[in-house]
Amino acid sequence: MTKIYNIDTLDPMRFMARLEERRQKAAAAPAVPLPKEYAVNNLAQRLHPAKQFLKVSEVIERSTDCKSFVLTADRERGTEELAYFSAGQYLTIFLDIGSMHLTRAYSISSSPKEALEGRYMLTIKYVEDGLASRYILDNWKEGDAVTVSAPEGFFEYNSLRDARTVIGIAGGSGITPFLSMAKAIACGDEDFELKLLYGSRDSDHILFKEEFDELMKVTDKVEVIHVLSDERKDGFEHGFVTADLIRKYAPEGAYSVFLCGPQQMYAFVDQELEKLNLERKFIRHELFGEIHNPEGRAGYPKEAPQTVQITVKIRDEVKTVTGSAQDTILQILEKNGISAASRCRSGECGWCHSRLISGEVYVPKEIDGRRMADLKYGYIHPCASFALSDLEIEVPKAK
Ligand code: FES
Repeated sequence: MTKIYNIDTLDPMRFMARLEERRQKAAAAPAVPLPKEYAVNNLAQRLHPAKQFLKVSEVIERSTDCKSFVLTADRERGTEELAYFSAGQYLTIFLDIGSMHLTRAYSISSSPKEALEGRYMLTIKYVEDGLASRYILDNWKEGDAVTVSAPEGFFEYNSLRDARTVIGIAGGSGITPFLSMAKAIACGDEDFELKLLYGSRDSDHILFKEEFDELMKVTDKVEVIHVLSDERKDGFEHGFVTADLIRKYAPEGAYSVFLCGPQQMYAFVDQELEKLNLERKFIRHELFGEIHNPEGRAGYPKEAPQTVQITVKIRDEVKTVTGSAQDTILQILEKNGISAASRCRSGECGWCHSRLISGEVYVPKEIDGRRMADLKYGYIHPCASFALSDLEIEVPKAK
């Protein structure tokens, strides 16, 4: 039987008396050198490498503004195998465009099993004014070297938290993590029912239709309902994903809702979800995405400046840069060639966690992932903060 001690009755002298006994045991032990490597460290390194060096081994055109890129390990640059992941996670891509150092997070659209077989697939769609997406779509070709992070993110199924049925709501390229989940269900790596309400403009803009049709032949745990906003067609729902539409496809009992899509979709669907009175834990959002142009957002002051000056301390260097107050602080740094640490770019992961030494910032509520202690001690996430005055900050350098 386990003996339960009350901390107030423990006698510290009893422990002191054991000191000599332990010294003697240590002195009597044979001198065995410590191992140079520990299995647990090797496993951690395989699952969470700081960087993965990959190459583009295939480019698949999906539409005029969307391509899939198959990435494999680049052994010449030191990556032997791909890190395993959970369906729904993303990779952060490190890009150097001219003098700019950028990062972008993209959901993995292949299955975890495919990572074990040596391939990831990322599907990237052009976003308006998207510097990185345009660069990738225009430039990446077979054989190109690409550097990415370990798989990251929390948009994954968890049987302890989530209901057995997940209503997935996707818009546009927000379908990518759901394709990974559907593949994982089909091959038995995940065990839940996925009902996907996938919104597209019209039937010509549906991504991965054939892939999902094939998966639905293999498993009855995946069902896709296409919702077209600009076209009426037999066998397709018309309009937007409303509370009524969710009710129509939801099971009798509990269900979780996973959302991934553009910010406009979140704004609309979140209002619809309120009508369903779901428990908070049953609603999961993939990264809200990077916010540009905060003007007009709730709480953004009317008299905010147009340009701001930021004095940045990064390791032993101090630089002063100028940028538009409509860009996030991270974007201003990147546009000025400062290589600050970042991953998700949505306020969630904390990689860019930085000390605000002086000045005032605006943080949109939707992407404010700071903890209480950050607020108390003046820390911000530059990827999710906009300068409201000249600033002094101390940021971590990208590794
Ligand atoms: S990069 Fe993830 S919180 Fe800023």
